[in-house]
Amino acid sequence: MTQTIGRSPSLEAAGVDPMFLKRWSTRAFSPEPLSQTEIDTLFEAARWAPSSSNSQPWLFLYATVGPEREIFNSLLRPGNQTWATAAPLLVFIAARKAGAEGRVLRTGQFDTGAAWMSIAIQAHKMGLYTHAMGGINIDDVHDTLSLPRDEFDVIAGLAIGRLGEASTLPEDLQAREKPNDRKPLAEVAKLWKAS
Ligand SMILES: Cc1cc2nc3c(=O)[nH]c(=O)nc-3n(C[C@H](O)[C@H](O)[C@H](O)COP(=O)(O)O)c2cc1C
Repeated sequence: MTQTIGRSPSLEAAGVDPMFLKRWSTRAFSPEPLSQTEIDTLFEAARWAPSSSNSQPWLFLYATVGPEREIFNSLLRPGNQTWATAAPLLVFIAARKAGAEGRVLRTGQFDTGAAWMSIAIQAHKMGLYTHAMGGINIDDVHDTLSLPRDEFDVIAGLAIGRLGEASTLPEDLQAREKPNDRKPLAEVAKLWKAS
């Protein structure tokens, strides 16, 4: 099921590729499972993200069903549990703090952000939906998933799946099932001039 959205058609006319405008973060996931091939394709897209010195600091730990998935669900904040537990794929995203020679990876989180966006765009191209979540129990993710604090930054959770029915969501979340807007371009990109 795909959904047409009304996000800024004028931007498409301005040359922004529709894949950037049509991606949005649903909370209404269909529980229909993803195939292992689909899952592998998503992470393969992430693998090709650029990173400082090609350090590839990202780590994606994922669960689909069963006791592992129950554990993953428990690591979400309650507000996110209300909807993200329906998604067939739940991911926790971490970034390594140091490279192979112990060199501090100053841009590790930035690089990992690029990798998550690669997943988001790849998913969109496959007709799938992604929803990142900062609302996770960071300490519990470290402890439960064996991610030592001196080695990893735990960054976010990520729900992935096909679009479901908004009617399955609580009413307050149903009202939020639409793409949102952005700050004006002039606020985020400025031609710098020496004063
Ligand atoms: C790092 C990150 C953390 C987020 N945390 C949450 C969250 O905990 N719960 C939630 O419902 N949405 C969360 N979101 C979704 C954002 O609210 C959403 O991406 C933003 O409003 C832009 O909307 P769009 O993705 O539909 O374009 C998060 C997004 C990102 C990138």
